Amino acid sequence: MEIQFPEIQLYQGWGKPLRTESTVDGLELVSGHVPEGIQGTWYRAGPDRQYPSMFRDDVFVDGEGMAHLFRFDGGHVTYVSRWVRTARFLAQEQARRSLFGRYRNRYNDAPEASGINGGTGNTNMLFHAGKLTVLKEDDLPYEMDPDTLATGPRTDLNGAVTAVSLSAHPKLDQQRDEVITYSFQARGTGSRDIAIYIFGPDGSKQHEVWFEAPWAGVVHDFGVTEEHIIIPFFPLITDVEVLKKGGSFYQWHDDKPVHVAVLPRRGTAAQVRWFEGPTASAGHMMNAYTDGTDVHLDVVLYAGNCFPFFLTPDGRVCDSPPPLLTRFTFDLASGSKHYAQRRVCDRPGEMPRTDDRYQGRHCRNGFMIMGRSPAGTSSVGRIDLDTGAVDYWEHGERLSVHEPQFVPRSPDSPEGDGWLLVILNCLDRGHSELAILDAGRVAAGPVARLHLPVRVRSTFHGNWVPEQVLRNGRFGAGDNS
Ligand SMILES: [Fe+2]
Repeated sequence: MEIQFPEIQLYQGWGKPLRTESTVDGLELVSGHVPEGIQGTWYRAGPDRQYPSMFRDDVFVDGEGMAHLFRFDGGHVTYVSRWVRTARFLAQEQARRSLFGRYRNRYNDAPEASGINGGTGNTNMLFHAGKLTVLKEDDLPYEMDPDTLATGPRTDLNGAVTAVSLSAHPKLDQQRDEVITYSFQARGTGSRDIAIYIFGPDGSKQHEVWFEAPWAGVVHDFGVTEEHIIIPFFPLITDVEVLKKGGSFYQWHDDKPVHVAVLPRRGTAAQVRWFEGPTASAGHMMNAYTDGTDVHLDVVLYAGNCFPFFLTPDGRVCDSPPPLLTRFTFDLASGSKHYAQRRVCDRPGEMPRTDDRYQGRHCRNGFMIMGRSPAGTSSVGRIDLDTGAVDYWEHGERLSVHEPQFVPRSPDSPEGDGWLLVILNCLDRGHSELAILDAGRVAAGPVARLHLPVRVRSTFHGNWVPEQVLRNGRFGAGDNS
């Protein structure tokens, strides 16, 4: 069967499907020097397209997963990319075509997809308790070999997870070597069940709680502090009757307020406190922390619909101005059901990150992809979360960037003292670079740029694993350089 991708915007330019696995032993230095002390592996996941989609209205979040690693060893950087060979990927490889229809709508799949899990493994990668997994929020994780990126089994974590899926945005509390994660629509498409799981340093389940959401909607990310868990519900809602008619997985309900559940980190369903705020949406949270009776959650907030390709039930397109980092504050002492919100930074941004050693604690430094102007190209920037001040790399029009990754300068370096790893799209040359910036001097530009002989089409999220953690399987004090 001939393969020809349709001429749709998603597949044009940098978005053209790459469909190539790569191994490059030693990236060439373009400029600068790789800082000493960066020892470890950066894992990332993103979407590509195995075959042309079944429908022309494909959405970018639905590509098959491509896993990437960058291994740093004394200035030598190895790059590997491999398809995530999920059940969906293998079935399609056998059929030599796409078998899954519109995003997450199982009612318009090809007959050969019946009974096969539809997860793509395209969103994030997590290393914990000695195991590397690749994540997509509509399926369970798949294990991957941390050295070769060979796909291992789909895993329910030794039977610990009875939910049908796990989030692609788990929180790794490095100080406690603990993973906190959740499932939404946890008993299947259209269910209102939320399940929260906590896994300890040895990977065993330490806590589990289930409760009911206000609707069966999207919960792409959440917040965790040392004391609390915060789960926001934005009004992108699944209607099974719409799916049966071949429609989209989510619909935007601009008449519904945001609902947020706040509960103790090891709380019960009865301890969930509910809050409400103005209609808005978000995919990503930068961080959260508890300060006395206040719980703060920093959200990349869209005033409207963050996924405008999901329409309203009556078919309207609702877009949003560019997103702004916004702090939600939940006053647990007041008894109010409304949360306060204030803007943290005036410059639009997305894909927020912190110094991961301090996730869940008060942080001064945030890192994001930031737009130069509402319609302009993007670059990477650091935000002072206390003042809103921005430190931004002005790199010109010929580059764009992926989500940045913070790497500490040393195991005990202060919060925010380290490096940023950033994949660059060299838009006029059709290939990528890996840039390393000083996280405290972002405007100075990269201290090193390394050439990638291929185009890294797209990555969503990833995580840095220090060499010592890769070897001994444990995060914690002294192990995270
Ligand atoms: Fe995400």
